[in-house]
Amino acid sequence: MSLAIRPFRPADLSVLQEITLSAFPGVSLDQTIEEKFGEQNGHDWRWRKARHIELETTANPAGAFVAEEHGRIVAYVTTSLDRAAGNGRIANLAVIAELRGRGVGRQLIAHALAWFRAEGLGYALIESMSHNEVGRGLYASVGFQEIGQLVHYAMKL
Ligand SMILES: CC(C)(COP(=O)(O)OP(=O)(O)OC[C@H]1O[C@@H](n2cnc3c(N)ncnc32)[C@H](O)[C@@H]1OP(=O)(O)O)[C@@H](O)C(=O)NCCC(=O)NCCS
Repeated sequence: MSLAIRPFRPADLSVLQEITLSAFPGVSLDQTIEEKFGEQNGHDWRWRKARHIELETTANPAGAFVAEEHGRIVAYVTTSLDRAAGNGRIANLAVIAELRGRGVGRQLIAHALAWFRAEGLGYALIESMSHNEVGRGLYASVGFQEIGQLVHYAMKL
């Protein structure tokens, strides 16, 4: 595999959203909320998840990176920074199904962490749904320590 990681460009957005929509069924909080309460405001969870990627890449385009194989985007990572607090958060990460398990996710996390260090940040944060065993396995294997578990609540108004 010849993988190249480069900074996000605005023209990449629709591809990142496509990868997101094929990667996140079963591991999306928005999807779980929709299963309980139905669609909200005329939008399904896919619209919400795709919107997260747009918001993240708009707010912090310099902190988003794509992995390309032979010029095709196969994975991405988005991040957000809190410079005053000294931390960076990995917001979303996805790899196309056929390239999973070959170290692409690990390389993208390493790239984001190197960028955080270059930006002078002191620590990194990441979250996972508790049942996302792949995500949790990956995060522990690159050095993240579990700090606590957050319980999400929602109610219909
Ligand atoms: C999570 C995801 C980004 C991982 O990407 P990937 O390229 O497949 O991951 P890697 O090949 O770099 O895996 C690295 C490590 O992850 C862990 N891992 C991978 N597959 C695993 C599995 N089935 N179960 C448990 N841990 C697993 C292992 O620790 C692995 O290291 P190893 O190969 O040395 O054992 C990818 O599976 C994905 O896009 N999933 C759908 C979207 C998603 O869940 N995103 C993260 C949201 S929290």
